[in-house]
Amino acid sequence: MFEDARRLVGIDGPREEITKLLMEEGDNDSKKLLKVVSLVGFGGLGKTTLANQVYTKIKSEFECTAFVSVSRTPHMPKIPKDILSGFGYCGTEMEDDVQKLIEILRAHLTNKRYLIIIDDVWNTKDWRTIECALMENNNGSRVITTTRHQDVATTCCFLSQGHVYHMQPLDEHHSKRLFFKRLFDIEDGCPEQFRDISNDMLRKCKGVPLAITSIASLLANQSKHVETWEKIHNSLGYELDSNPTMEWMRHVLSLSYNDLSQELKTCLLYLGNYPEDYEIETFDLMRKWIAEGFVREKHGLDLEEAAKTV
Ligand SMILES: Nc1ncnc2c1ncn2[C@@H]1O[C@H](COP(=O)(O)OP(=O)(O)OP(=O)(O)O)[C@@H](O)[C@H]1O
Ligand SMILES: [Mg+2]
Repeated sequence: MFEDARRLVGIDGPREEITKLLMEEGDNDSKKLLKVVSLVGFGGLGKTTLANQVYTKIKSEFECTAFVSVSRTPHMPKIPKDILSGFGYCGTEMEDDVQKLIEILRAHLTNKRYLIIIDDVWNTKDWRTIECALMENNNGSRVITTTRHQDVATTCCFLSQGHVYHMQPLDEHHSKRLFFKRLFDIEDGCPEQFRDISNDMLRKCKGVPLAITSIASLLANQSKHVETWEKIHNSLGYELDSNPTMEWMRHVLSLSYNDLSQELKTCLLYLGNYPEDYEIETFDLMRKWIAEGFVREKHGLDLEEAAKTV
């Protein structure tokens, strides 16, 4: 979620566009009203990444800021709670009553200029609940939502003066930069013998950052032989050609998965214990892996030091 900005490509233009929509549009009176911008696009297009970039850029201009994830089956009380803890609120009344939590949140926001990012809204019903907390206080507050669904995006923008922003795939230039940087650690090209096959694969990724980075990581772990790459390319062929969304991504990921050692496969599957969008503490996770007996302690290895390198 929080990709290092230096590893991102083609983000400056979209980040400026969203910032402009949020901060610069309208006359002085309308700038004071609450505004929502909703980023919409299919999985892996970079919605969360872009929302986070805008958040980092403009948050110093707001009194209260929070970045929260909703996900497919949210535990609703968690959302106002997460927003409140994002604001640094640590009242004692943090129970599980959504209505009460929303009241606390509204009271907290009464006179403040707030910026809230609500990442990954799955349906309009969840949004309707969240929306109750976002009071109009004429202080120039701003909200960004991300979603895969057009109808949710439209609903998010309905009450405020909002904008739906359609995520665009990366263009050819940025796709290449991302791919080659991840694979060869050079941005402007690749060794001659890999050029054709790289271009073929990139064409099939259709500018989807998740596709490009997944394939680059898969190839980075293989021997640097054109024949090996061709084998992988052929096994991706059909799905990549026909459907640039999640279906074939599953295939890419399963190829990467099959490539892992038995030990790492178990460790990876263990992540299924965590709910979607849960923030996993590396140190805590490594201790659990060891406690489960998935990985053995290596003599002389300091776990805390190792966790820092992950
Ligand atoms: N501009 C970019 N440059 C480089 N990598 C990017 C860029 N945008 C996204 N990525 C990478 O692509 C992957 C998917 O991005 P992200 O999680 O933001 O997509 P998403 O649209 O939010 O997907 P979902 O709908 O599943 O939440 C991440 O690994 C992210 O680091
Ligand atoms: Mg996302």
